Amino acid sequence: MSDARALGERAEAMIGALAGITAEPGKITRLYLSPEHRRAAALVGEWMRQAGLSVRMDAAGTMHGLLAPGLSGPRANRRLLVGSHIDTVVDAGRYDGNLGVVAGIVAVEELAARGIRLPFGLEILAFGDEEGVRYPKTLVSSSTIAGSLDPTVLDMVDATGMPIRGALAEFGGDPDHLAAEAYLRGDVIGYLEVHIEQGPVLESQGEALGVVSAIASQGRYRLTARGEAGHAGTVPMALRHDALAALAEVVLAVEEVARKGVRDSLVATVGEITARPGAVNVIPGEAMMSLDVRAANDAARVAAVEEIRRRVRDTGVRRGVVIGMETMIEKPVAAAAPWLKRAIAGGIEAVTGRKPREIMSGAGHDGQAMINLTDIGMIFVRCRAGISHNPLESVMIEDMGLAIEALVGTIVRIAEGGRA
Ligand code: GLV
Ligand code: MN
Ligand code: MN
Repeated sequence: MSDARALGERAEAMIGALAGITAEPGKITRLYLSPEHRRAAALVGEWMRQAGLSVRMDAAGTMHGLLAPGLSGPRANRRLLVGSHIDTVVDAGRYDGNLGVVAGIVAVEELAARGIRLPFGLEILAFGDEEGVRYPKTLVSSSTIAGSLDPTVLDMVDATGMPIRGALAEFGGDPDHLAAEAYLRGDVIGYLEVHIEQGPVLESQGEALGVVSAIASQGRYRLTARGEAGHAGTVPMALRHDALAALAEVVLAVEEVARKGVRDSLVATVGEITARPGAVNVIPGEAMMSLDVRAANDAARVAAVEEIRRRVRDTGVRRGVVIGMETMIEKPVAAAAPWLKRAIAGGIEAVTGRKPREIMSGAGHDGQAMINLTDIGMIFVRCRAGISHNPLESVMIEDMGLAIEALVGTIVRIAEGGRA
């Protein structure tokens, strides 16, 4: 049996090895189905094998490591899933997703070191598409297992025009057999995930770990504005149909709408904007922007998006610019199952000596897809200053060790009779 520090050090060494697998030297960038994702998946598969798991990569590129049940009984044909993701944003931190995958593998090692045998299978999953950065859809890998993947997403293309279908075939996956990867609800006990909080609550309260209550309601949209390109020196201001200026107005409207929703934890972000043709002396004839809207409840998110749509229409009419708003993703609130929250809270309290607080996750997670298959539960780990999606992401070694101990404790609680 290892202490929390030793478990944390083991996790940190593995996370460091994953951090070295990147498309951009000096930064961490590992997008879904990229060569770097393939190398990271191979390394994770190797660790899973060393931990005694039966390893396979599925048709969507997810790594699965299965620990067979150590005891016979009514739950021996079922499995508890523990996972997270190994894709990253551009210029990412090292812990987002990767910590959860590593925590699952180290927890398996620790169960073996403690001689604990489980009455059900335990499957560790390393998903590849939680960030949704390369393609406009997200959670392709977890939706595949959950049986909720819309097959039309396979035709979506990345910035180079490569469809998911082609990238998946190159990766070694099988775009024509994704449906066969869907798990049956009756075969699964639940889904657990360890993830950094990506926010400041735990740190501000002096707590290492928390229980996730739910994952926020989320929508992602793509706005395309079509105006009229023209000469920057000759077209008078009153006669312009500037597509970029129209979207600039929308960006500020989005901010205004979101600021009114503080009580519902409403947030809205425009993270990408481009203009065409994109020259210093040409009025933009076309512009595109992304929009991400999240809230603690579905009604607040839906109302905000409706208001944004109204503001978009007004702007378009006033400026003589046609603005389309396409829905890329809409995901309702994903609430953690009360029985899993109890098991997690027990696992955390046993290692920290404190009843953990419940925290709403503003960030998206694979649980938003897994909830279509099974009950979900998440352990949040304190991170420095709440910084994430940033190379400055930082987690204390001891906190990672405590999270792994809490995960082991949660699994044991489920094995000992928590509902399944
Ligand atoms: C993923 O981290 C997201 O919340 O967008
Ligand atoms: Mn993540
Ligand atoms: Mn992320």
